[in-house]
Amino acid sequence: MTTVLSGTALSHDLAIIRSADTHVDVFRAAVHRIGLHIAAETLKHLPATQQQVTTPLETTTVNVINGNVVVVPILRAGMGLLEPFLTLCPSASVGFIGLKRNEQTLHPDEYYRNLPPSDTTTTFIVIDPMLATGGSMVATLDLISPLPHQKVLVACLIGAPEGVHAVESSHPEVDIVIAALDRELNDVGYIVPGLGDAGDRLFGTT
Ligand code: PRP
Ligand code: URA
Repeated sequence: MTTVLSGTALSHDLAIIRSADTHVDVFRAAVHRIGLHIAAETLKHLPATQQQVTTPLETTTVNVINGNVVVVPILRAGMGLLEPFLTLCPSASVGFIGLKRNEQTLHPDEYYRNLPPSDTTTTFIVIDPMLATGGSMVATLDLISPLPHQKVLVACLIGAPEGVHAVESSHPEVDIVIAALDRELNDVGYIVPGLGDAGDRLFGTT
């Protein structure tokens, strides 16, 4: 299932990060706020189990997270969404996948992998601002899927229809949450209207 977020506060911040005039400090802060919206929606998909809690007044049954959570930012730009996820899910572990898209072939080259051990209760949440061709996300899901897990979730800022389709068709079991679904990829593989290069804008390397 793919969920595209909506809401005025969210679209206000999307306008800020889309604008070519936004400076790096303002860009980062807006990505952080949008990340909180994305994290809140994504975390609704976590498996739950019931637990009894005793309040000062009585004992009641509540839902708590079932199993452990591993958040996996795709380096570099995925780091921009990590803090919002850890704010709302502070007990999560963090694993890392380093991928750099070759801007000629548009294929991702892996340069780093450091994932914690998982088991059949683990939920992986893969985070990356941009889902363009989907090549980076599909490569990451291809390497996570064979690992022991209970569930895999994907969270992105902006998706292109091509990228969403690539993930949905290769990993139909994965739930996707994105803040915006844009029109298309341009002829050099950038999302339009988009926001440009997310990593460069987050880390001031434009
Ligand atoms: C960007 C982005 C995604 C990828 C999306 O990263 O953060 O990881 O491109 O493109 P795709 O869907 O076509 O694979 P990039 O490879 O530029 O690396 P960076 O995060 O280091 O800037
Ligand atoms: N990577 C980005 O950072 N932006 C795009 O539009 C496409 C890939």
